[in-house]
Amino acid sequence: MHPSYAVINLSNLKYNFLRIKKKIKKTKIMAVVKADAYGHGMTECASFLESLGKNKPEYFSVAFPSEGKQLREAKIKQPILVFEPFTKEQVNLLFEYNLIATVFTLDHLRILDWGFKQFGKKNKALQKIRIHIKVDTGMNRLGIGINESNDFINKLKKKKNFEIDGIYTHFACADEKDKTFTQFQIKRFEEFLRRLKKMNIDYGLAHAANSGAILDVPNSYLDMVRPGISLYGYYPSLETSESIKLKPVMSLYSKVASVKQIKKGDTVSYGRKYTAKRKTKIVSVPLGYADGINRGLSNKMEVLIKRKKYKQVGIVAMDRIMINVNNNDVKVGDKVFVFGNDKNNYISVWDWCKAINTIPYEITCNISNRIPRLYKR
Ligand SMILES: Cc1ncc(COP(=O)(O)O)c(C=O)c1O
Repeated sequence: MHPSYAVINLSNLKYNFLRIKKKIKKTKIMAVVKADAYGHGMTECASFLESLGKNKPEYFSVAFPSEGKQLREAKIKQPILVFEPFTKEQVNLLFEYNLIATVFTLDHLRILDWGFKQFGKKNKALQKIRIHIKVDTGMNRLGIGINESNDFINKLKKKKNFEIDGIYTHFACADEKDKTFTQFQIKRFEEFLRRLKKMNIDYGLAHAANSGAILDVPNSYLDMVRPGISLYGYYPSLETSESIKLKPVMSLYSKVASVKQIKKGDTVSYGRKYTAKRKTKIVSVPLGYADGINRGLSNKMEVLIKRKKYKQVGIVAMDRIMINVNNNDVKVGDKVFVFGNDKNNYISVWDWCKAINTIPYEITCNISNRIPRLYKR
């Protein structure tokens, strides 16, 4: 077996999911499992969540149709929303795999019309493709603008070959302490919903809340919430409350691969960015930037070996980091705890985030495919 591995603790995933569920009460949940469930394994996490019976998430969401295809091939039955706008080249997947399309331009409607003629009629089970309308309330990335929507809405009213299953918006800064802009986005979104209602458009489920909003903005819950990072056990920033207790799902481990005694003045790794202040023992651990250990962490991270904390020293290489174990008894094959939590060890991903100015999302997403995921219940 590969010496480095990530344990994915499915009990913690369930714990986080049920804690979120408890907080939002009867509101539905769309579990965000895009990007390989933020590095945790998309099909495994979705299958596990779907196995929770009456507690399972009502929806899943992914970024791309190809991810939706993977979920369907893994026998996921729940509705799957695709966040990204689709192209003519991708539209077949929406029909073939019964995925819900995000729609916000006249072009999307045209492509769906075309797709329906090409693929929809062949699929007898699929009388209509389902869509969720994306509304831009201030993020200025994707979605129909509040003031430029008349043509689009009029077309929506006329179309017969799709069903509007939902409508959503996305918050720009729900994870910040100041919620003024989030409240402004909610107000805009609600105004838009009222306008559709007045036009007799049944928009289905309205949803907006990501993890930051789930934690701190109850009036954003609407019909459904969309947790991502909180499912995997992290708060989205250091500015949110911790109103839901979360447990990290991923823990990263490796094993000592070599041990070397060095003397005062010796340097370690590329560029000689670490000089030993005294005689010490340096061990190598087979994890590098190709595995998702950011090179910016050089000389800035720590690991645990037999419950003792040691500093990583020198430049992070492609396949290897070096650890100064002082003169302690550390041998080839000893287990190295890199981050996460198990019953004996705890190193927060936030330590890395602070060192290289990023967020937990990026850290877990970047743990590469070279690292096997071991699923533990
Ligand atoms: C549209 C949309 N909704 C919900 C989420 C989940 O956000 P979070 O991981 O902050 O809960 C994302 C993630 O980026 C997203 O793109």
